[in-house]
Amino acid sequence: MQMVTLVGNGWHPWLFREEAKSLMGEIETIHSRIVSIQLSENTLSRLSRAALIDDVLENSETHVIGEGTTSADIAEAISAWAENFLEPGTFAVRSRSIGIGIEGISTKEIEMDVGNRISSEINKVDLADPKVEISVVIAGQTEGEAHPDPLGDSPSVVVWGVRNSDWEREKYSGRSPTERPFFKPVSLEPRQARLLISIGHRPDCEVKHVVDPFCGTGGIVIEAALQGMGVLASDLDSRMVEGTRENLDWVNGGYRAEICNASEIDTLWGPTDGCLFAFDPPYGRSSWKSEDGLNLFLSAISSARRVDPSGAISTMLPTGPEVLSQGLGEDFTVMGVKWSQLEELIAQRGWKVVLKSPIKVHRSLARMVIVCHPAD
Ligand SMILES: C[S@@+](CC[C@H](N)C(=O)[O-])C[C@H]1O[C@@H](n2cnc3c(N)ncnc32)[C@H](O)[C@@H]1O
Repeated sequence: MQMVTLVGNGWHPWLFREEAKSLMGEIETIHSRIVSIQLSENTLSRLSRAALIDDVLENSETHVIGEGTTSADIAEAISAWAENFLEPGTFAVRSRSIGIGIEGISTKEIEMDVGNRISSEINKVDLADPKVEISVVIAGQTEGEAHPDPLGDSPSVVVWGVRNSDWEREKYSGRSPTERPFFKPVSLEPRQARLLISIGHRPDCEVKHVVDPFCGTGGIVIEAALQGMGVLASDLDSRMVEGTRENLDWVNGGYRAEICNASEIDTLWGPTDGCLFAFDPPYGRSSWKSEDGLNLFLSAISSARRVDPSGAISTMLPTGPEVLSQGLGEDFTVMGVKWSQLEELIAQRGWKVVLKSPIKVHRSLARMVIVCHPAD
């Protein structure tokens, strides 16, 4: 059974692992930012939907870094591995550290030492355009992270492998909210939009349509359209619907976008299978026509259930910054009610919460990312 190793972005290690699980199913956790998964035929196309994966390594090996481990020990282990896994041709060794730096371990020394040990007539170093890139990740403990992580501290490890050359991290260039034709301050950043879509995946289901009943400027549906998914977008504000259309035309995405109250999307779209309802609902003063944010959210998820009772929901709800610093088991206030109460209200509408994880917005605002699957 061939495995691949994924190296996650440092912004939110917990959500990196959850994203890998949603897209790929089972994962083996090596470190808070490193997991391995089974390689299958569609692995790379599924992973292309990820928002938080930095690197994909093949034929990888992991060693725990103990007290006294040196750069030379690591270089020696990598050169022994290279005897089995390095194909003939040029190569480059690229090493980087994540987490807290580890005394006695230098990424530069490892690169030089491995290069010297394994270069030969058939394997010459080429830093500019190598046939094979050996990627080495020194993963220390995490500290002072912006987001809580139920995993706690991971042991320090070094992981190396052949970097998958078909993997390209999404850079979002040219499509930040202010670069789009239609922009409003509510616009969601592309990485968060993409994350809402990826964590709403389930390994055994294909997402056919991304449905956003609060589409605003189209931040979420732009990412869906770019990934070739169907788009069903709506908003109560006609200017937003117009703006979403403008933005989707700009990325040449196929879509349907209509004016509709979020509580009535079942009448608008009718029964539709393969739906992921991905949205960030209005809150506070941005709640349009002063409808209460919580009730609107609840009626939207009831309506979603009538559109696709087998669908999934992925959303982010407003909460206070204390969720970032206190214990994860606390009964926090989300959307103005205690979490335990909200979870019950969600369950009464036929949905089961399978993930809740906070993200920082700014000093006085956080959002709770929530994923729901059908309760039955
Ligand atoms: C936080 S914004 C969504 C931002 C969007 N994700 C983006 O990237 O631009 C919430 C949206 O909900 C819309 N809205 C407010 N009340 C609504 C309702 N009852 N039904 C549908 N949409 C509503 C607002 O017009 C606003 O565009």
